[in-house]
Amino acid sequence: MSLDEKATKPHDRLAQALTEDMAAVNALIRDRMASEHAPRIPEITQHLVEAGGKRLRPMLTLAAARLCGYAGPYHVHLAATVEFIHTATLLHDDVVDESQQRRGRPTANLLWDNKSSVLVGDYLFARSFQLMTETDNMRVLSILSNASAVIAEGEVLQLTAAQDLRTDEKIYLKVIRGKTAALFSAATEVGGVIAGAHENAVRALFDYGDALGIAFQMVDDLLDYGSASDVIGKNVGDDFRERKLTLPVIKAVAKADAEERAFWSRVIEKGDQREGDLEHALELMRKHGTLEATRLEALAWANKAKASLHALPAHELRDMLSDLAEYVVARLN
Ligand code: IPE
Ligand code: IPE
Ligand code: MG
Ligand code: MG
Repeated sequence: MSLDEKATKPHDRLAQALTEDMAAVNALIRDRMASEHAPRIPEITQHLVEAGGKRLRPMLTLAAARLCGYAGPYHVHLAATVEFIHTATLLHDDVVDESQQRRGRPTANLLWDNKSSVLVGDYLFARSFQLMTETDNMRVLSILSNASAVIAEGEVLQLTAAQDLRTDEKIYLKVIRGKTAALFSAATEVGGVIAGAHENAVRALFDYGDALGIAFQMVDDLLDYGSASDVIGKNVGDDFRERKLTLPVIKAVAKADAEERAFWSRVIEKGDQREGDLEHALELMRKHGTLEATRLEALAWANKAKASLHALPAHELRDMLSDLAEYVVARLN
């Protein structure tokens, strides 16, 4: 890697390599998020879309298609579809999590209300389905509609696992593989499928997206405890307040003595949270080294993602995807 390449983040390099495609995706998103009949829809979608977001998932689709040699127009539709699905789930997720900040802005549920967020989220889901049918490719329809169902399953599983101290690492993995990794793996897989890539390559792209998505969510869960809200554009400590059992907590509960267990039971199971509890939770996680253990697990998944890429043709974009996997965990530093 040259000095110049090191100076820019993998995510920016990917955006640069995909500038034209990404411009087409953004134009398509702007075009399709509008609605003639209900002004509330463009109000909310513009609020979210203009705030940006990393556009990670559409870039994955574009990169996957391009590195498999695709020269047609439909990777743009698929990338926009994936971002629409993502945006729809964010609208719903912020209602469910009662979140107040997203992409550095107040959430739609805060600025408007829960009803608007749910309904505009539904609208975006529907728009995403319209978009993907334009590709006339049954297999990508099947992959993306399946992913949409799996995301919802992941969110519902998380709902029932929250506040339950019996939630273990296996359940956690199921939750994040559903709510987050399913869209990452669908994003990369459809890129390969639309390009007519070999089954081996399609499988490798799926595996890459799956492992990357898992690493990404583990890091997101760490940032919820260890970052600053101006860095992540979301409130810190949301997961604790929502009594969610994310990996650092699950690991701390597993190592708790009787007194610590009583603490976790009070704040997570009973929801009796007082001043200083978040700090105490952090202390316990540091004491048992669970933040570092979670980081190492995320790193292992990122390495798994990188290894999956070996089955793909040598390409500048393949190297960028490899660097991206590394960066997903490195952004913790
Ligand atoms: C947020 O995803 C939801 C998670 C899976 C943690 P991103 O962090 O990719 O969100 P944006 O699109 O960049 O805002
Ligand atoms: C987001 O999960 C996953 C989906 C969008 C389905 P989280 O609730 O953990 O993510 P943030 O922290 O709100 O972005
Ligand atoms: Mg959330
Ligand atoms: Mg959530």
